[in-house]
Order: sequence, then structure tokens, then C-alpha cells
Amino acid sequence: MKVNQAEIVISAVSQSQYPSENLPEVALAGRSNVGKSSFINKMIQRKALARTSSKPGKTQTLNFYRINEQLMFTDVPGYGYAKVSKTEREKWGRMMEEYFQTRKELKLTVLLVDMRHPPTEDDIIMYDFLKHYEIPVMIVATKLDKVKKAQRQKHLKIIREALDIEEGDELVAFSAETAEGKDQAWKVLKSVM
Ligand code: GTP
Ligand code: MG
Repeated sequence: MKVNQAEIVISAVSQSQYPSENLPEVALAGRSNVGKSSFINKMIQRKALARTSSKPGKTQTLNFYRINEQLMFTDVPGYGYAKVSKTEREKWGRMMEEYFQTRKELKLTVLLVDMRHPPTEDDIIMYDFLKHYEIPVMIVATKLDKVKKAQRQKHLKIIREALDIEEGDELVAFSAETAEGKDQAWKVLKSVM
């Protein structure tokens, strides 16, 4: 897709702040540092619209990005970062539940997992959570550039089995470095727009 316009609409912490323009919405979910913000930037060809960092915990709020007046990306804070207090974890949990349970515009969640490693317990919980709320999911195995070609199929199989991916849910291998998987991911996004 050709992206002419991409801009942040709002950083929100609660429902009253969510944008009300009724665009089809795609949310990003995954561990801290897995590459959610990098995924958005690569998909829309902007170097740093969504802020990224080598340190986990960069994204702390729900950040809504409007793309071409056609689509909304919601960048979501990651999970699984050890150095987070119990209070912060609970705050995160409430923010996530409120968003995923109430957001009518949400058409698809992109669940990112690190292609190099088997999914974590938190990844499995997140996938099951999305399935429970009947939210369509695309799984993106990212950091593909870090996995040797000969090992890729094996890693994808491990991810598919550990998450117990339901038939019909797409699994796309992706790299925000090389843009591999980008066209395939856009194809899935377009199907919900
Ligand atoms: P939080 O906001 O903390 O939840 O993290 P995030 O999931 O948004 O991760 P972010 O996009 O900030 O990326 C984290 C780090 O991983 C950065 O240093 C990125 O440059 C790097 N990264 C992201 N995607 C890729 C990829 O496909 N390949 C490689 N090699 N590095 C990547
Ligand atoms: Mg981020």
C-alpha cells in the first residue's frame, strides 16, 4: 500500500481518550522490545514515527496512528519486562483489558513474537486472551534477519506448535531490517480494511 499520510492522533491511557473517527483499526501486541513500534514504522516506510528503543518498555501508552485516513494502527505497551513493579503491571492489565474488550473499531491484532526463540508463557497467554475475546489475530514472527535461512522453517514450526495457532490465523515471518514479509503482512491488513 502506498502511504501518503501517517500521523499520531493521540497517546491514550483510557477509553475516553480513544479517537472517535471510526477507521478500521489494527493493534500491535507482544513482549517489550519484540519490535512492535518498528513493525509500524517499516509497514508505513517512516523511520521513526513510532518511537523505538533498544531498551524494553519504550511504549507506555496506547498510541494511535492514522494512516492515509484509511486505517488506524494502535501501538500498545509490551509485556514481560521484568523490571516493572506490581502496581505498574496491574495498571497495564487494566489498560489492555479496557482496550481489547471495548474497542469496536478493532479489526485485527498483530501479535509479534521473536522468531529466534520459542514463544514465552506470556505470548501464549496473550494469544489465548485474543482468541477468548474473538479478536482476529495475525502472528508476526519478527527479527527474521537474525535467523539463518536453513533454520527458519524449524523456528516457525516451533512457534506454530507452542501457540497452538488456530487454522485460518496467518503466521508471517518478518524483518523490520530487511522488509521481508512486508507485502504478505499488508495483504492480511488489507483484508480487514
Ligand atoms: P516496547 O515499546 O518496549 O514494548 O518495544 P517494541 O516492541 O515497540 O520494540 P521496538 O520496535 O522499540 O524495537 C526494539 C529493538 O529491536 C530496537 O532496537 C529495534 O531496532 C530492534 N528490532 C525491531 N525489529 C527488528 C527486526 O526485525 N530485526 C532486527 N535485527 N532488530 C529489530
Ligand atoms: Mg514500542
